[in-house]
Amino acid sequence: MAFLDVAGRSYESLASDPGLIQMGHNCNHLPLEPSIVEAMMDVLRREEFRNYAPSHGLEELRGMVVADLGVRGVKALITHGGTEAIYTTMSALLEPGDAVIVSDPAWPHIANFARSLRCKVIALPVYEDRLGYRMNPEWIALHLTPEVKLVAIVDPLNPTGGAYPASEIEALCSLASRHGFYVLHDSTYSDFSHSHVPAIRYSERAVVSVTLSKSCGFAGLRFGAAVAHPAVFERIADHQISRLGVNLVTQRGAITAYRTRSRWLPVLRQINDQHKRLLVDRLASLRGARALVPSDGGNFVAIDVAGTGRTAEQVVASALQDGFVVRSGAYTSPRFGDRFLRVTTTVPTAAIEKFCAALPGILAGA
Ligand SMILES: Cc1ncc(COP(=O)(O)O)c(C=O)c1O
Repeated sequence: MAFLDVAGRSYESLASDPGLIQMGHNCNHLPLEPSIVEAMMDVLRREEFRNYAPSHGLEELRGMVVADLGVRGVKALITHGGTEAIYTTMSALLEPGDAVIVSDPAWPHIANFARSLRCKVIALPVYEDRLGYRMNPEWIALHLTPEVKLVAIVDPLNPTGGAYPASEIEALCSLASRHGFYVLHDSTYSDFSHSHVPAIRYSERAVVSVTLSKSCGFAGLRFGAAVAHPAVFERIADHQISRLGVNLVTQRGAITAYRTRSRWLPVLRQINDQHKRLLVDRLASLRGARALVPSDGGNFVAIDVAGTGRTAEQVVASALQDGFVVRSGAYTSPRFGDRFLRVTTTVPTAAIEKFCAALPGILAGA
């Protein structure tokens, strides 16, 4: 699988190269709250890992995930990352021959999972200013057929940054009840958004996938959850893969992460917003490149480079030569991917400043 590679270099060699600044995979490279790491070390010291974890996850953690979403009566299944939550949900709710609506561009694995479940994928192009670089309910309505059983929204959308207002989530949910499809609300980047409202607030046909990979820097630990109302939850739990539980080091770290969230999350969001502003302001002073969604969105900025006369892959290769791992949109959209790249902003401020300074040369291929 080469989908994490950049400019022809393997992901493993990139990730382990200390000379590179990692701005390609939307991970969080800012300092972690120390008590989170301490809680994980404690599991190792006490050898708690000798036992299996409870199959749906530690009760305390499941409760924290639900409380964080602020919706009563829903249940959380703890999974190895949001990825497993998404796949398990899709395998529970879809039959071969069903159709799934996704956006183009989008994180590609929802469509990949749909295909592997022998479903048809309807990808709605969203690479337009007037659409805010995301799907909207009216447009989804135009593409509904009786075969559509799931609409998957990534909110904010990786890779563009387009975020969904509460009114659109609500409208999508009422469409779901009228037409009998499910809504998968992938909230991977919700902690960075200023407007996020989970679809499970409005519909019993909705599932929310959550993760700590991006906000809390847990990407390599694998923590996620699928959250749904009881009837849908039971179906998802029936399709659970990790029946012997998610690793306890991660779960104890996640409990501490939720417990201390009010301490670290506002700081993280403030730093991320500030980094995005630095990058967006720098782009505004340059010709040929522009930020797709200048504010809100995730811990990244998508940059359209069509005006430079170079492809996104060429620009990404120039960035790598200068020591920055960034990613072109190619893996998220064969149709639009060569027009834009995506730059992660949860990195030290010095890295953002260095990237901003190097940007003219990177764009020009100098
Ligand atoms: C939109 C989206 N969904 C899901 C994931 C999966 O995240 P994880 O499995 O690390 O929780 C990612 C990771 O990049 C993503 O960008």
